[in-house]
Amino acid sequence: MVNVQCSMDKMKVLVATEKPFSKVAVDGIKEVFGAAGYEVVMLEKYTEKSQLLDAVKDVDAMIIRSDKVDAEVLDAAKQLKIVVRAGAGYDNIDLAAATAHNVVAMNTPGQNANSVAELVFGLLVFGVRNFFNGTSGTELKGKKLGILAFGNVGRNVARVAKGFDMEVAAYDAYCPAEAIEAAGVKAAKSQEELFETCDIVSLHIPATPETKQSINYDLVGKMKKGGILVNTARKEVIDEAGLIKLMEERTDLKYLTDIKPDADAEFAKFEGRYFATPKKMGAQTAEANVNAGIAAANQIVGFLRDGITKFQVNK
Ligand code: 3PG
Repeated sequence: MVNVQCSMDKMKVLVATEKPFSKVAVDGIKEVFGAAGYEVVMLEKYTEKSQLLDAVKDVDAMIIRSDKVDAEVLDAAKQLKIVVRAGAGYDNIDLAAATAHNVVAMNTPGQNANSVAELVFGLLVFGVRNFFNGTSGTELKGKKLGILAFGNVGRNVARVAKGFDMEVAAYDAYCPAEAIEAAGVKAAKSQEELFETCDIVSLHIPATPETKQSINYDLVGKMKKGGILVNTARKEVIDEAGLIKLMEERTDLKYLTDIKPDADAEFAKFEGRYFATPKKMGAQTAEANVNAGIAAANQIVGFLRDGITKFQVNK
């Protein structure tokens, strides 16, 4: 372990959140840094990248959410030693550039998982009740839910689904079937099987070169009549053109998403079958903000003071 805090200079931490944390989370973050004797600067709701470039100039550490940290930001952040993504997905950090700049990148896995999982059911109840338009919808009870990727969020989705009395199946290319079955969930043999056999599929895969545009015409086209696709993961995993073509052909399918697609205007023509939250809301609860924000703050202190690199993602 390396002690990075070698001088007596006061460490300066930037909290750069275009989508701000709740006040209670910000207070908690400030308390952690206050106790460590660090200075905190806040950059919230910023609209231009130049504001971020300016704010990172003299900071030793930063906490971000979906805020983009690319080579340009890292170039500008001459003192930066660590960036922590308060959340699960770190596709918004250029990991190679972070390594090249000698900056440790971390995430806070699991901290906002319950919040995202609860939103899945918010979207689903809204979807099966026909967007609350007054017509008769359906219940979730007895329906088969397919969970694609059985990580922290997927596991929480499975737990809540059981409360709705749903049948639950999952597929995860990196999680053995035994581990899925041990959680009381049926393990599908492939993602194709998951789409073929479930009434609803909820996506929990990260955006990686392998998953980008992997949710495509052929895969979603395997869903049964009346199928619902829920996306609280990333817009990049969807082949938008393919899904639009499919929804034109299959007027029974619904797409509910927490991440506005690039082709939002085109999807909007599927009235009553398409819904996108105006802003990503999955992790936007006081509890998730507190959990992820304070974990991020503690990870920064742990690294700067004691050299702890648990949760580093750019090894
Ligand atoms: C995550 O990866 O943790 C979620 O997508 C939440 O993202 P957010 O912090 O931007 O809301």
